Amino acid sequence: MCGIVGYIGFREASDVIIKGLKRLEYRGYDSAGIAILNGEVIIKKGKGKVVNLEKMVLNGPAKGTVGIGHTRWATHGEPNDVNAHPHSDGKHDFAIVHNGIIENYDSLKKELISKGHTFDGQTDTEVLAHLIEEIQKVAEVDFETAVQLALKQVDGTYGLAIVNKHEKDKIIVARKGSPLLLGIGDNEVFIASDASPIIEYTNKVVYLDDDEMAVITREGYQVKTISNIELNKQVHELEMNIEQIEKGGFPHFMLKEIHEQSDTIADCMRGRLMVEENRVVLGGIERVLDRLVNARRLVIAACGTSWHAGLVGEYLLEYIAKLPVEVEYASEFRYRQPLIDSNDILLVISQSGETADTLAAVREARERGALVIGICNVVGSTIARETDAGIYTHAGPEIGVASTKAFTAQVTVLSMMAILLGQRRKVLGEADAKEMIHALHGIPAQVASIMEKQDQIDTISRLFAYAPNFLYLGRSYNFPVALEGALKLKEISYIHAEGYPAAEMKHGPIALIDEHMPVVVLAVTDHTNDKMISNIEEVRARKGRVIAITTENNHDVRNLAEFCITIPETHDVLTPLLTVIPLQILSYQIAVYRKCHVDQPRNLAKSVTVE
Ligand code: AGP
Ligand code: GLU
Repeated sequence: MCGIVGYIGFREASDVIIKGLKRLEYRGYDSAGIAILNGEVIIKKGKGKVVNLEKMVLNGPAKGTVGIGHTRWATHGEPNDVNAHPHSDGKHDFAIVHNGIIENYDSLKKELISKGHTFDGQTDTEVLAHLIEEIQKVAEVDFETAVQLALKQVDGTYGLAIVNKHEKDKIIVARKGSPLLLGIGDNEVFIASDASPIIEYTNKVVYLDDDEMAVITREGYQVKTISNIELNKQVHELEMNIEQIEKGGFPHFMLKEIHEQSDTIADCMRGRLMVEENRVVLGGIERVLDRLVNARRLVIAACGTSWHAGLVGEYLLEYIAKLPVEVEYASEFRYRQPLIDSNDILLVISQSGETADTLAAVREARERGALVIGICNVVGSTIARETDAGIYTHAGPEIGVASTKAFTAQVTVLSMMAILLGQRRKVLGEADAKEMIHALHGIPAQVASIMEKQDQIDTISRLFAYAPNFLYLGRSYNFPVALEGALKLKEISYIHAEGYPAAEMKHGPIALIDEHMPVVVLAVTDHTNDKMISNIEEVRARKGRVIAITTENNHDVRNLAEFCITIPETHDVLTPLLTVIPLQILSYQIAVYRKCHVDQPRNLAKSVTVE
């Protein structure tokens, strides 16, 4: 998944690159490296995070105004010094950083070995470097052509940047499947996997599309296809600002992002939820609204937390808009030869807009003629650009690997979509719509009030910080929240946790319950409450430690549970927007007690751009 940063201009390239790589560490942090042009190609790289690279550069400066850098999430070859990017050709003429997977690397490697190439490490990227070298030697072509010819031979995905000591004022970049954009300044150009490393220097960006490359000099850039057809690319203006991507006084991005949620949910509804007029306006899907209104069903595909938001969406759309919904893991959808055609609509949900499995689902569905709609957070991301229509969540940059504010913004969009479709499909009456719109409007303040419960949640976190297992139970629209709570805990505290529909507990998981097992129960006052109360009794009867998330008025649950965190009352179907908040805080606090790396949990990366 990796993060790439490149710079050509008048500044010290290593400063720009290292600072930028730190912002991209959410994409991977197995190793980091840099290559600076200075007569030679100076490479510094090593296992571990960007701070280690920074120390290396401070100890032995790499001076120069042209360079590329990389923070790695290993796919091929263990995360060690040798496999860290940049990689070189055999003669050390050039250096390459790569994000993605060269799928046919093994056969290419064997062929190159038979021609006398030797390899230092195990990455697929090193194979690409040697392939370019070999092609240049045999075909006697210029470097750029050699890169193009090599890229035509590789299967798989790449976002890459290359510097060559024989072309001292140039960087070559290319993209297929992994994001890359150019930041355009005055006599300087920036390269990055997303906009966060460049936003402090320029807000003018050019997004590369698949099968495109660019030749970059200080004065500017030329974008062309891999087949050498020159292109005129649109220059976009970025709207994000630097404060949005800094921690703002919080110890971790995750905590900052948890706290931001009352604002981000409000931002997400701004100009869309028209309380006075009792309606919802979603400009991004206006064009395809008739198709949605008349749809026979909707298929939702996403991964991880976004998939959980999709599951909440299923309840919302079926309950409010009476629209049949199927929710799929994007990865499964893609390889199942899905029964989807031009009569169908696929809705994909993705914070990053770059998740490879979700993007593959988009392409699969479009190939089969379906209409594809996206709910994305990152503006201008690949999924946002490749879908027929879409709704941005407007949650701002989410840096913590564990998704929090993106989830609540996704559920907010899905709630608005359900109300809009419910009204247009004439299945949601005025009075009911009014009740929901008012309830939704009140959510930001209610989320803010839950933040005040942090001390209370802390008592529970401290007590259970070293529990080896957790169970999360919920019913109906709070079942996906149980899954999300368990995922949050697993990701950042490495505690084994499972989410279950509460009724399923008796079909197996109940065997796990003893006096050591914390069981988080989502038991708000709604149509499932009596059943949830029975489930709490069942846990208690086996001495399980019940931590209930319930509504303030729910005295039955409050009296029954060993620990209780209350949320304000809202419309039943909107409770996931509130019940998830204490679960985010609980997992955050437990991870801090366990001294885990909250923002960069082991083995994970924020944006999963490999399949
Ligand atoms: C969430 O905490 C995870 N890190 C992960 O499951 C994430 O939601 C998933 O990879 C999907 O990402 P996306 O929303 O950017 O597509
Ligand atoms: N395949 C390359 C490696 O393992 C890049 C990995 C990635 O983009 O995640 O080093």
